[in-house]
Amino acid sequence: MYINCRVCGGNVQEFVDLGRQTMANGFLRPEDVEREYFFRLAVGMCELCTMVQLLEEVPQHLRYHDAYRYHASGSESHRKHFAQNARRFMESELTGPDPFIVEIGCNDGVMLSTIAQAGVRHLGVEPAGNVAELAKAKGVQVLSEFFDLATATEIRAEHGRADVIFGANTICHIADIESLLLGVDVLLGPDGVFVFEEPYLGTIVGRTAFDQIYDEHIFYFTVRSVQAMADRFGLELVDVERIPLHGGEIRYTLARPSKRTPTPAVGDLLAAERTRGLAEPETFERFGHDVERVRGDLVTLLREIRAEGRRVVGYGAPGKCTTVTNYCEIGPDLVPFICDSTPSKQGHLVSGSHIPVRPPEAFAHDYPDFALLFAWNHAEEIMTKEKAFRDAGGKWILYVPDVHII
Ligand code: TYD
Ligand code: ZN
Repeated sequence: MYINCRVCGGNVQEFVDLGRQTMANGFLRPEDVEREYFFRLAVGMCELCTMVQLLEEVPQHLRYHDAYRYHASGSESHRKHFAQNARRFMESELTGPDPFIVEIGCNDGVMLSTIAQAGVRHLGVEPAGNVAELAKAKGVQVLSEFFDLATATEIRAEHGRADVIFGANTICHIADIESLLLGVDVLLGPDGVFVFEEPYLGTIVGRTAFDQIYDEHIFYFTVRSVQAMADRFGLELVDVERIPLHGGEIRYTLARPSKRTPTPAVGDLLAAERTRGLAEPETFERFGHDVERVRGDLVTLLREIRAEGRRVVGYGAPGKCTTVTNYCEIGPDLVPFICDSTPSKQGHLVSGSHIPVRPPEAFAHDYPDFALLFAWNHAEEIMTKEKAFRDAGGKWILYVPDVHII
């Protein structure tokens, strides 16, 4: 099937189907299993602008609400990264008189709290009420709205134009990207920058990280597709930088045309994408086969472990684990529970697959033989923290870039 591209209206041709899925951060109470929302998780590429995107989407108000379970401050590496981001902005972009920074989707204030502490004028725009409250408790100014043209116009009327508009793991979540970019155009100062950090399609394809595909990620950016999008909305892509978060992301910097000289990194990454065939249908066909192979290998391994009477527990319940467990049809029969440090996920079930989430103590209390690492993007932090598990003979199972035991 095909749909019209959300960026340019071109034909989006489907290349992978991850089946019937629910909401990745839809962790639910056992009594609510009757009320789950299902949709078909399939991805395609626009024949015109090459933007990779979901074919079907979950309505926005169902995804971001007052019980949104994703907390950006959930790991040490994220806290460090965003504090550093804030400092970089203050040193490079927020240096004029009375500068102003707006963050789209400020979550629990992981980045803006550093800006607030420095007394710099800022505004977080965050529709998920519960995380917005956490940000406010850290002294961050928050507007509980979706960022779109109307919101941007209001912000400009009240606060003036922004020197920096920032988004981390949010821009790819916004289906009405046209309204978002028109809003950026209204709000961004003449010399301002629009900076966003999002999962990179090159990493997803290169590492078969299909678990990055879920309802919240409407778009899967490449340098090429972001450049085309920027051009279409009167902005210019002036810098790209690879960052190690969420398994491999890119930070894009957009400015008004001819205001800044694009860095060599833009051309370099564009060339690398061409060499890799990152907009070629054959690349995605191969990706589809790789995804099926990982599913087969993982399920076979888990069944073998069960047949041998050994125990496996899931470690970390990121949004990603919803895609993997539902696509591979892994339920509590194969993975009895997943431990996660996020209090609001504990006592809940992973949506669709209904695997219970328990606190990390449930893991430490009685080590299993294997821990299936769903939060593989935090492998280093978690394995260091859980060194005693390995010392006690425990083994980690990873499924990125392929199924392996370490
Ligand atoms: P995260 O990387 O934020 O990903 P996503 O965007 O896919 O939801 O999710 C990491 C999850 O792992 C989060 O729920 C917290 C959990 N976690 C632990 O339980 N223990 C840890 O030591 C770390 C680092 C994370
Ligand atoms: Zn398009």
